[in-house]
Amino acid sequence: MFRRTGTSRKGTAGPGRSTSSEALRLVSVTKTYGSSDENAVTALDRVSLGLRAGTFTAVMGPSGSGKSTLLQCAAGLDRPDRGVVRVDGEEMTGGTEAALTKFRRQRIGFVFQQYNLLPTLTVEQNTTLPLKLAGRRIDRNRAREILAQVGLGDRLGHRPDELSGGQRQRVAIARALVTEPSVIFADEPTGALDTRSAREVLRLLRETVRVHGRTVVMVTHDPVAASYADSVVFLADGRLAGELHAPTVDAVAERMAHLGDSADADASGYDAPLGV
Ligand SMILES: Nc1ncnc2c1ncn2[C@@H]1O[C@H](COP(=O)(O)OP(=O)(O)O)[C@@H](O)[C@H]1O
Ligand SMILES: [Mg+2]
Repeated sequence: MFRRTGTSRKGTAGPGRSTSSEALRLVSVTKTYGSSDENAVTALDRVSLGLRAGTFTAVMGPSGSGKSTLLQCAAGLDRPDRGVVRVDGEEMTGGTEAALTKFRRQRIGFVFQQYNLLPTLTVEQNTTLPLKLAGRRIDRNRAREILAQVGLGDRLGHRPDELSGGQRQRVAIARALVTEPSVIFADEPTGALDTRSAREVLRLLRETVRVHGRTVVMVTHDPVAASYADSVVFLADGRLAGELHAPTVDAVAERMAHLGDSADADASGYDAPLGV
């Protein structure tokens, strides 16, 4: 039997991305919504965070605690009011809109709860779209290889409405992988899926880290989903509220329950639905 010897391809992080380096760094990131003082909502309040390359992190917290805002700011889809975001040690904040878009297209992948595929494009066309947008060469063999890896090698010509939810999300993961980004952000990627499809998507995200050497940051409400990650960071009222390494389902659920307590006890009367 053929056995792999020597260094495995696992954890291959590509040139300039040693697995011990930092893929993502947030320094005191603050984001406030609303124009006047009365209706201002501080969605993120001086959040600082560093994530090593090649790690899988879940972000959890009550509804309204700032999880999506954190992802949007960290992914360059939104700009923080204050603070700095660095990807691979390079500052993403600052610069022009065009420079930010270019940087994001090179370094960042994003997976959304509702897949965000283009309905008129085939599976293969949806997957190669980020390359097209970035003006990069479209390597169809590479796209097909990735689609085969996510189990869609026989669905290249299908359109999104001919696929199940789980299959659509796997196309979205292939699309996020095709540009070989440093960091892939996923906001509730299993939120619209049945248990079995959710598990497949979670396994794929974990493989993205283990096999492709990417760094994954995933927002989730679900302690089972969070247990697939290497660590969990908790948010409450726009602030970091702890971290859990090697999370188990029970430990995550327990921590979430206590986050709910503290949010309910908040003097502002903020009533946070737990949503677990
Ligand atoms: N575009 C927006 N305009 C105004 N307020 C917003 C906007 N986006 C988010 N918020 C507010 O910011 C806070 C954090 O929201 P969000 O990041 O979506 O939380 P989560 O994803 O944890 O549910 C909430 O109070 C929310 O109402
Ligand atoms: Mg959200």
